[in-house]
Amino acid sequence: MALARSGATVERDRLRASFDGVWGDLAGVGRDPRSGGYDRFSWTGVDLGLREWFVAEATRRGLEVEVDRNGNQWAWWGAPADGAVVTGSHLDSVPGGGAFDGPLGVVSALLAVDALRASGLAPERPLAVVNFVEEEGARFGLACLGSRLMTGAVDAGHALSLTDDDGTSLADAMSAAGHAPEHVGLDEAALARIGVFVELHVEQGVHLALGEESVGVASAILPHGRWHFCFEGEGNHAGTTRLVDRHDPMLPFAEAVGAARRLADEAQAVTTFGRVRVDPNGTNAIPSRVDAWLDARGADEVGIVRLVDDLRRVAEEAAAGHGVRLTVTNDSFTPVVEFDASLSDRLRSSLGAASIAAPTLPTAAGHDAGILAARVPTAMLFVRNPTGISHSPHEHADASDCVDGVEALTVVLRDLLTESLEVVSDRGVPAEAAR
Ligand code: GLV
Ligand code: MN
Ligand code: MN
Repeated sequence: MALARSGATVERDRLRASFDGVWGDLAGVGRDPRSGGYDRFSWTGVDLGLREWFVAEATRRGLEVEVDRNGNQWAWWGAPADGAVVTGSHLDSVPGGGAFDGPLGVVSALLAVDALRASGLAPERPLAVVNFVEEEGARFGLACLGSRLMTGAVDAGHALSLTDDDGTSLADAMSAAGHAPEHVGLDEAALARIGVFVELHVEQGVHLALGEESVGVASAILPHGRWHFCFEGEGNHAGTTRLVDRHDPMLPFAEAVGAARRLADEAQAVTTFGRVRVDPNGTNAIPSRVDAWLDARGADEVGIVRLVDDLRRVAEEAAAGHGVRLTVTNDSFTPVVEFDASLSDRLRSSLGAASIAAPTLPTAAGHDAGILAARVPTAMLFVRNPTGISHSPHEHADASDCVDGVEALTVVLRDLLTESLEVVSDRGVPAEAAR
């Protein structure tokens, strides 16, 4: 005789099937079939496909879709109003990125809405699922572009003048994609609509993988920034130019790469030159120019600034030695973000009440939630990543952990939608006790 399956098991199987279905629909968009990596860059044809997918998923659920002044998409359950509960993430990727960084937060948000509605919940306030534009900064170089514009963390004119590798400005890319750039910038009306923001994200590290739990709560984002190093030398023939006559920008750049690693070691920070553009990029041509972008992160802001100053000095000396001109520009700097302690306590408390143990962990990865934290109460949930690999085609989360993530997000949203948003600091368990 077949054993009857419990209601909870049936529910979980249903959720798993929904997750597989929605995830599967998204899987092919922007995927390089050779590497398995994703190239999902803002305002491109691939991005328009992702944005259409978002609209289709929202429409299928009867959610009203709005696009804000900065191009961020919002799908509303309930009439849009101030003080809503907002969840979601981003759909763009780094070059050759993984499937989970960003999309997991959007897909989980949609499935959590399904679960809340299926349970017959009558929310006290509206909920929005958001898809932020260009979180990775892969096309225009500025991470968290949509949330930075919305909060006024970047000047609108400056952002619109940023160009991609083909020289297309953000303003032109937006226009070509059908979004009017004239209204881009600080959007107080959109901010007022956010009562709280909870972003679910795949973990980009092994904190959870080293423990027992599949879901965690973020405590903080470590400070991080990006700097543009531009080395200008003299292009010439690779065969006929004597070594003593060369002004080869590749050489001081190479010294800078080594120094960045050495200085990071000393400062207990991390540095990466992950993006380089060489002009003219020919095997038999001495480059005339090398543009390289440094990503630097660490535990303390002062330490990072000092590290980059030291690196600049090393690079300037090396450049002078080769008759090469160097300019260094800071493209962005995000100070440490401590997530709203009361809200995070409240997340842990509602998860605890649902018997979901969720450890607390910091991250060295940037997120829109970190930008929004300057203006609204913000929290994050992380889903276990068995290898910790991210920004790579090998980024992964097991489907059953993703389902755990949807369940955790559902629990958290249920509480935020039905209880007062007045976040009471003694409401939850103290963060230390929850570790
Ligand atoms: C985004 O994932 C970043 O940390 O740069
Ligand atoms: Mn990322
Ligand atoms: Mn992300």
